[in-house]
Amino acid sequence: MKKRILIIGASGQIGTELTMYLRGIYGNHKVIASDINEAAEEIMESGPFEILDAMDYDAIQDVVINYEITDVYLMAAMLSATGEKFPMKAWNLNMNSLFNVLNLAKDGKIDKIFWPSSIAVFGPTTPKQDTPQKTIMEPSTVYGISKQTGERWCEYYHNKYGVDVRSIRYPGLISYKTLPGGGTTDYAIDIYHKALKHKKYICFLNEETTLPMMFMDDAIRATVNIMLAAPEDVKIRNAYNLSAMSFNPKKIAKTIQKHIPDFEVEYEPDFRQDIADSWPQSIDDSNARKDWGWSHKVDLDEMTKVMIENLKGEYE
Ligand code: SER
Repeated sequence: MKKRILIIGASGQIGTELTMYLRGIYGNHKVIASDINEAAEEIMESGPFEILDAMDYDAIQDVVINYEITDVYLMAAMLSATGEKFPMKAWNLNMNSLFNVLNLAKDGKIDKIFWPSSIAVFGPTTPKQDTPQKTIMEPSTVYGISKQTGERWCEYYHNKYGVDVRSIRYPGLISYKTLPGGGTTDYAIDIYHKALKHKKYICFLNEETTLPMMFMDDAIRATVNIMLAAPEDVKIRNAYNLSAMSFNPKKIAKTIQKHIPDFEVEYEPDFRQDIADSWPQSIDDSNARKDWGWSHKVDLDEMTKVMIENLKGEYE
């Protein structure tokens, strides 16, 4: 199989795990990792790595030609909380990087694109429970506006130019290998670190803030599976709703207390509360389940067990 993959944003929370997973499937030298920053040691040492600015079309094109890239996973983005602090930077990065890869595909230089969307495409006027695939979308964050716009462009490039672009609306993603940066759902990772380190966590969302979430292993499987699906099975070409579990800070804290009984949480909501309040609480992902066979594996109790097992060594 003449498949060669470029991951843009390979040093980030998703990119790190995605790179290693894809290297396991396709072979180390077939998966080229790239990022504006150096990546984790296992990525730098296990296969090719290029320093690459996702906003630099010519530099991306050079890497695509040099390595004869067929598939691009564009994982570079500025997330919701940082996006509110640097609106124009977030818009420029999130949109220009997408146009760069869409145009490479339009010009026949690559075959296939994965581009992540997010639950942030929804807004305060969206139905909050079991949010349907097609519904009111009036995002109120810069990040959400960029993802919503990106979805429209993905569908446009597919319909107009036949570009094979595939996308998922990720919920909050929880992982232990790489820390997230600048998101609103990041509390659900930080809480495990602080529970192990201090037995105490000060949460920037209030205890009732329910959000859709997913363990990273499930998110990686979804990403790879939508890319492996037959083109005719990928019926939605903006982005698929995707869901695994929903919880609030109080609920995740309870699962942690099963392992660390004297763990305590205090609540000091900040500007991220408004962002979280604008997002759905649960997601209807029946289209992904029907069209390309999506199903999640990890629930909240299982995730907490795995997170604590894997992080406790760092704090002993
Ligand atoms: N997890 C992201 C964030 O919080 C949403 O896609 O910004």
